[in-house]
Amino acid sequence: MLSYRLSEIVKLCKNHTRIADVGCDHGKVLGELAKNGAKFLVASDISEPSVKKAEQLLTKLNFKNFDVRVGNGFETLSDSDNLDLIIVAGMGGLEIIQILKNSKIKLTNLILQPQNNVVKLREYLCNNNFYVQLDYVICDKDKFYNIIKVKKDNKFHKLTKREITFGKTNLKTFNPEFISMLESLNFKLANRVQGIKDESLKNEIVETIKENNVEIERAKNRR
Ligand SMILES: C[S@@+](CC[C@H](N)C(=O)[O-])C[C@H]1O[C@@H](n2cnc3c(N)ncnc32)[C@H](O)[C@@H]1O
Repeated sequence: MLSYRLSEIVKLCKNHTRIADVGCDHGKVLGELAKNGAKFLVASDISEPSVKKAEQLLTKLNFKNFDVRVGNGFETLSDSDNLDLIIVAGMGGLEIIQILKNSKIKLTNLILQPQNNVVKLREYLCNNNFYVQLDYVICDKDKFYNIIKVKKDNKFHKLTKREITFGKTNLKTFNPEFISMLESLNFKLANRVQGIKDESLKNEIVETIKENNVEIERAKNRR
């Protein structure tokens, strides 16, 4: 069965039919898309054994219209693929930024799920004409994951400092997983602050805890 994290990614692929999964590994997302009306799929990964797994899965499902490609980031993709969505999930935020920076193809819709450095990724997206459609956190087996859906165009779309820190959608809708994430973060920060001697660092962490508490209250009030 698909994990909650992967099923959430699949849910966001609705209304897209020509899709590439870059860093597809097991190919489980592609497998689900194949069962749900995809017209063309690209399984791409820097590792050959990984794409082989995706290939086996799609073949087993008797899905015909797919390509398997081995290479770094979007180097495996071309404008003639006419993709209407690219997924990059389960990689570090800085690695995702590098993949976006190196892209030579015309980008449209992307689903990004960074494992870390989400604030840096949001800053990059904001400064490079990506419109953030959705940006929210989920909790899957006690681990928190940020999922971001963006559309690239030629306009600047400002994100506020709060949106960059906390994620745009988390600030608009009632999301209990966002509240849990901030509570868990504050618990870790409160433990950390006890062992810190440097007063300025200590104050910085205390301020972050306070800011998080303000957001927790705001988030609860959106119920
Ligand atoms: C942790 S797995 C994530 C698999 C799947 N996307 C998911 O979210 O469950 C990361 C995958 O990304 C691939 N990968 C890492 N860096 C890459 C890059 N620069 N270009 C393409 N694939 C990459 C790895 O080989 C690995 O299969």
